[in-house]
Amino acid sequence: MGKLDGKVAIITGGSGGIGSAAAKVFAGEGAQVMLVDLDGDAMAKTVAEIGEDKAACTVADVADSAQTQAYVAAAVERFGGVDIALLNAGIEGQVSPITDYPEEMYDKVIAVNVRGVFLGLKYVMPEMQKRGKGSIVVTSSTAGIRAVSGMSAYATSKHAVIGLMRAAALEGAADDIRVNTVNPSPIDTRMMESLEQMHGLPARDGSNRPMARHTPLQRYGEPEEVAKLMLFLSSDDSSFCTGGVYMVDGGVSAGRV
Ligand SMILES: NC(=O)c1ccc[n+]([C@@H]2O[C@H](COP(=O)([O-])OP(=O)(O)OC[C@H]3O[C@@H](n4cnc5c(N)ncnc54)[C@H](O)[C@@H]3O)[C@@H](O)[C@H]2O)c1
Repeated sequence: MGKLDGKVAIITGGSGGIGSAAAKVFAGEGAQVMLVDLDGDAMAKTVAEIGEDKAACTVADVADSAQTQAYVAAAVERFGGVDIALLNAGIEGQVSPITDYPEEMYDKVIAVNVRGVFLGLKYVMPEMQKRGKGSIVVTSSTAGIRAVSGMSAYATSKHAVIGLMRAAALEGAADDIRVNTVNPSPIDTRMMESLEQMHGLPARDGSNRPMARHTPLQRYGEPEEVAKLMLFLSSDDSSFCTGGVYMVDGGVSAGRV
């Protein structure tokens, strides 16, 4: 028996490192998954790997209201409802001080990372109310609880989604809709490599990654390690957990080693 037997999960950012790992872990635990992303080709590969009986995908921009309503409708049409949503799509923006940070890039990061989560909550929660319960996991970051120099827009966005999560947890509680954040970093995905390059950190040298030495566990996390926390928060194992901020960061938020 799987921990998510009979459940339907929407996963935004579904073609990315963490999203595709979550799709595989969730399907392995019995869920049917609807992947949502801008990158249709990568999602199609993940769907083929999981199997079309358990996975489907829809191309959508999470910052767009009509496209958000369309991805929620697609999950309901294909799988009959929504029990779980991983609001996980995100972009890193660029690395530069606030005085040089382009206004358009700031707006874009906030649109995808914050408005995208707001719209996901707005249109997913009514479907969960129909089911009488639900679990929503928002991907924040260690940058959601402390700032990162040069990453004002990203850090702002990841703090902001904690506020959104707390508001949604309070509003959803009467319908047994639980809402939590996971706060990863550093996880071995495209986004982390992009950030390393933008920070001018040395290129990866085999398994020797530049941020590992600032991480108490001395390594990067794997996307599957985030997916397993998402699984806990999405399953009935976490039935009394809502409104929480859950670190999955190798000890980074504890301080500097
Ligand atoms: N990798 C890390 O160390 C790390 C750390 C903290 C937080 N996160 C967060 O985890 C989440 C997943 O990131 P990842 O590491 O898997 O990176 P990733 O770049 O592999 O995945 C992000 C996905 O989001 C999708 N996306 C971007 N804009 C979109 C939009 N407008 N509409 C729909 N989809 C869109 C991308 O196409 C991509 O597939 C992000 O929210 C990120 O901020 C990652």
